[in-house]
Amino acid sequence: MERIKAIQADITKLQVDAIVNAANQSLLGGGGVDGAIHRAAGPELLEECRTLGGCPTGSAKITKGYRLPARHVIHAVGPRWRGGMHGEPERLAGCYRESFRLAKENGVRSIALPAISCGIYGYPVPEATQIAVRETRAFLAQDDTIERVIFACFGQEILAAYQQELSR
Ligand code: AR6
Repeated sequence: MERIKAIQADITKLQVDAIVNAANQSLLGGGGVDGAIHRAAGPELLEECRTLGGCPTGSAKITKGYRLPARHVIHAVGPRWRGGMHGEPERLAGCYRESFRLAKENGVRSIALPAISCGIYGYPVPEATQIAVRETRAFLAQDDTIERVIFACFGQEILAAYQQELSR
């Protein structure tokens, strides 16, 4: 069975062990998928996030999922796109590596991820999906605790980009 798939979905609805959030350095919520996750998880999520002391760009931190179907939320802080010469690719890759590392450490077998940085942070979708798929394949190749990775795509453009990348 394919371990990686891309589907059109609202990530807050998915029944997986962990969902990844596209957060900002404060980890105190925001718009986009971050806002949706906090609304669906309830106020306890923000309370736990307040104890974390933020997170640097290119890294991630884990919390519980509270009222979400997912047991955990992994809050990854993607880079803001500034033309591509300011370490954006390395930082975006870091989000995926760190998210998978935390997932493994917490016994996560199924995980869903949004297109980190592709909304408000303006990362070009083809470049971002290339990094997402590359890092996911690299992690799965040397790990068998994670059985299922779902790219939760909000909209047809993102889904098409993932499907193209996954068919390579
Ligand atoms: N499920 C799946 N994907 C979603 C959902 C959802 N419910 N809602 C939006 N997306 P963005 P960023 C998609 O802007 O670019 C926040 O304010 C969206 O269409 O959420 O990393 C944070 O606090 C896009 O494809 O995150 C930061 O300040 C993708 O998720 C900043 O935005 C990411 O878009 C982070 O910006």
